Amino acid sequence: MTAQKDKEKQAAAKVAAGMIKDGQVVGLGTGSTAEFVIREIALRGLRITGVPTSVRTARLAVTLGIPLADINSVEAIDITIDGADEFTPELYLLKGGGGAFLREKIVAERTLREIIIADSSKLVAQLGAFRLPIEVIPFAQRYVEQQLEKLGASCLLREGFVTDEGNRVLDADFGLIGDPAALALELNNITGLVAHGLFINLADTVIMGKGAEIVR
Ligand code: 5RP
Repeated sequence: MTAQKDKEKQAAAKVAAGMIKDGQVVGLGTGSTAEFVIREIALRGLRITGVPTSVRTARLAVTLGIPLADINSVEAIDITIDGADEFTPELYLLKGGGGAFLREKIVAERTLREIIIADSSKLVAQLGAFRLPIEVIPFAQRYVEQQLEKLGASCLLREGFVTDEGNRVLDADFGLIGDPAALALELNNITGLVAHGLFINLADTVIMGKGAEIVR
């Protein structure tokens, strides 16, 4: 199963790498799927400047010889390739299994084209079978948990995990999410909640490997 998933991730990564042009500023996602595209960029010798979405991705890019820029030193990001934990046909995303969703969302907000690559297990009719990651500042942890409980979620603290911004992650179970856009707005209003893994209207394209096919 993992071998098949990896094949699909790799196939999607190759298509995505083909969309990148020399000279572009490229947002580099985080996770096992994003890793395939980062390796593909290096393999093809694409002359890009990368904007990494995590320390983990930055380390990999440096190891592979991909030049990086600080996000605050670029005016725009031409294209970003990232993964997702779940996506719907409407291109709503649930992200953050790897805990990098705050920086991933900032990069997605600043990019001209957000391309998501995934294996076929990530396509769902409704988001929410995967717990929704929520990044909180440590001081607000209990308060945010209480607010999430009021919205009907049960939360698990991601034990021993600290984000690149020094925060904690709660994995929240809301059950299947009927209206992701409405939930995202409610979550945006909670003080101390820094980011959540719902990406609404941020993805431009999803490239999904499925068997030998690519589905967009
Ligand atoms: C990290 C993410 C990843 O894109 C998501 O968790 C998917 O990871 P993988 O490609 O390893 O399945 O959002 O914050």
